Amino acid sequence: MTGIERSRTVAVIGAGTMGQGIAQVALLAGHRVLIYDINAALAADGVGIVQDRVERMAAKGRLDPAAAEAAVARVDPAAALSDLAGAALVVEAVVEDAAVKRALFQALEQVVAPDALLATNTSSLSVTELAAGLAHPGRFLGLHFFNPAPLLPLVEVVSGFATDRAAADLAYETVLGWGKTPVRCADTPGFIVNRIARPFYAEAFAVYEEQGAAPATIDAVLRESGGFKMGPFALTDLIGQDVNEAVTRSVWESFFRGPKFTPSLAQRRLVQSGRLGRKSGHGWFPYGPDAPVPAP
Ligand code: NAI
Repeated sequence: MTGIERSRTVAVIGAGTMGQGIAQVALLAGHRVLIYDINAALAADGVGIVQDRVERMAAKGRLDPAAAEAAVARVDPAAALSDLAGAALVVEAVVEDAAVKRALFQALEQVVAPDALLATNTSSLSVTELAAGLAHPGRFLGLHFFNPAPLLPLVEVVSGFATDRAAADLAYETVLGWGKTPVRCADTPGFIVNRIARPFYAEAFAVYEEQGAAPATIDAVLRESGGFKMGPFALTDLIGQDVNEAVTRSVWESFFRGPKFTPSLAQRRLVQSGRLGRKSGHGWFPYGPDAPVPAP
């Protein structure tokens, strides 16, 4: 089986961090790409950002100039959801809110062909729950890209309770053809990566809470002896403490508040105080030109 033909249109909904990255991947794979956002200005900005990145790749010699020029001409903003009617695949990357996503997919079903693949990039919501209420839930699945999507190869291909095997196969082959490393998984909370990563963060935060060691020390140990590129404190500062905590809470709730996934009180304090990480200038560590380098 092969993936979706390159001549077919891929639509991306949500022109933020992930939407831009996914659009770039589909575009460079050869598809025509439409980006829709509830905020039309953001859709136009998203298209501009993707076009800039493609042009910069060509300027650096990482992409053939003719291919870059063709790609730039193949991506457009969509003014309305109805403009996505011809898409063979729609990847949704809007805000992590089940009610918003469900309403969006129900509206989208009125627009696209019954056999168009519908995918969500959700980090931690249930694919099964998002599909409930759809007329054709068999073609609905999770395509979970990682940030930054153009650079990171892994894509979790998540089958919900109602996802047809043929739809999952088509999605798998499509992202494989895009040069990614797809991995099939079922719709368990957090899928594979976001679930297994929970204890990585939680145990590190617990060691700190028990005054076992300082964040910089724990990070250094995991980097230098554990082989991790980043320790859990620096990594959650990069992700955003609010975003990371929300995923933890979602996985915890999904497991009926099982103690294994209990959120961290220390992280709660960071979020409450607005210390969200790099984006706010302070998280576990301070950031900015004058910030001291944390000593292990
Ligand atoms: P973002 O906040 O950067 O972008 C979200 C975009 O969706 C915004 O431009 C917003 O205007 C738009 N939007 C909101 N409601 C909409 C609606 N009803 N219709 C159309 N557009 C709408 O968010 P980000 O970080 O790109 O995340 C998007 C999704 O991807 C979330 O589900 C998130 O959990 C998931 N994700 C995020 C990762 C990350 O590292 N940021 C990694 C993997 C998945």
